[in-house]
Amino acid sequence: MKKIAVFTSGGDAPGMNACIRAVVRTAVFHKLEVMGIRHGYDGMINDEFIPMNAKSVSGIIHRGGTILKTARSQEFMTEAGRKKAKQNLEKHGIEGLVAIGGDGTFRGALELSKICSIPIAGCPGTIDNDLVGTDFTIGYDTAINTVVDAVDKIRDTAESHDRLFFVEVMGRDAGLIALRSGIGSGAEAILISEAKTDMDKLIKHLQEARKDKSSKIVIVSEQGGTSSVFKISDEVKKALPYYDIRVSVLGHVQRGGNPSCMDRVNSSRIGFSAVEALMTGKKNVMIGIINNKIAYTPFENAVKHINELHPDLVRMMSVLAI
Ligand code: F6P
Repeated sequence: MKKIAVFTSGGDAPGMNACIRAVVRTAVFHKLEVMGIRHGYDGMINDEFIPMNAKSVSGIIHRGGTILKTARSQEFMTEAGRKKAKQNLEKHGIEGLVAIGGDGTFRGALELSKICSIPIAGCPGTIDNDLVGTDFTIGYDTAINTVVDAVDKIRDTAESHDRLFFVEVMGRDAGLIALRSGIGSGAEAILISEAKTDMDKLIKHLQEARKDKSSKIVIVSEQGGTSSVFKISDEVKKALPYYDIRVSVLGHVQRGGNPSCMDRVNSSRIGFSAVEALMTGKKNVMIGIINNKIAYTPFENAVKHINELHPDLVRMMSVLAI
């Protein structure tokens, strides 16, 4: 293998830059040529290939977002788009590909692998932590810390006004951001997509909540529809009119910011191992970290959504909210 390319795709996540840096510098160390592809699969189709070297990734380990930019490519979903992408990869003599992204990125990689024999190594980059084959995805740790920081601030104002806040957090198909940030911020309740919201239970819980608690926070996973947090708060208001309620939708603030140290280190390990995986003949696998060890998971398994949340965390959450 003499030449590889790296790209980021799907929603950006803090730590993607640290991963790009590790990929480029590991490639340079092993005397491989390395190119970056801008704008994900769109850039592969539109020939946005740029040469990279050790210097082009200087000063980025601490920066959120992705210097290669990203996209959710519609054209790559078509056969014609994938054929153009394959032609460009071949034109540039790419012999190995590092894809940094989430489930959509790896589904795309699987489709590409059906028409193109270039081996692909995937790096799990998404704040949602919803991939099988790694304990934590790149960006998840930073995102949950961002949520906890925001909720701490919301709690100051909630306490001052004796208010109940519903805080919506991201996680299109998974409630993992909600679960951990809810525990970390001491929420009264956490509503997640994996468990259907039981309104009666929530209302009873809030009704019986200790009166001496001056602030109450309910974390709501976005559950695929942005209106659900408002619907939930309206229902609670109808049942418990004495509560002074506010809703806060955290939105894309959760995707930005400097990556945490844990994200920087994990991203570096994953990017480094992705290049070495390609060099040792691995193909079409996602590189993850399980129990502090590098693990390789075929793309088709990595994209199966985890619907089971850690039972200990779920049980503990309800005990600690008393
Ligand atoms: O996949 C990461 C994520 O941030 C989800 O949590 C969220 O539902 C989605 O991306 C938002 O995507 P976009 O930035 O394209 O609106």
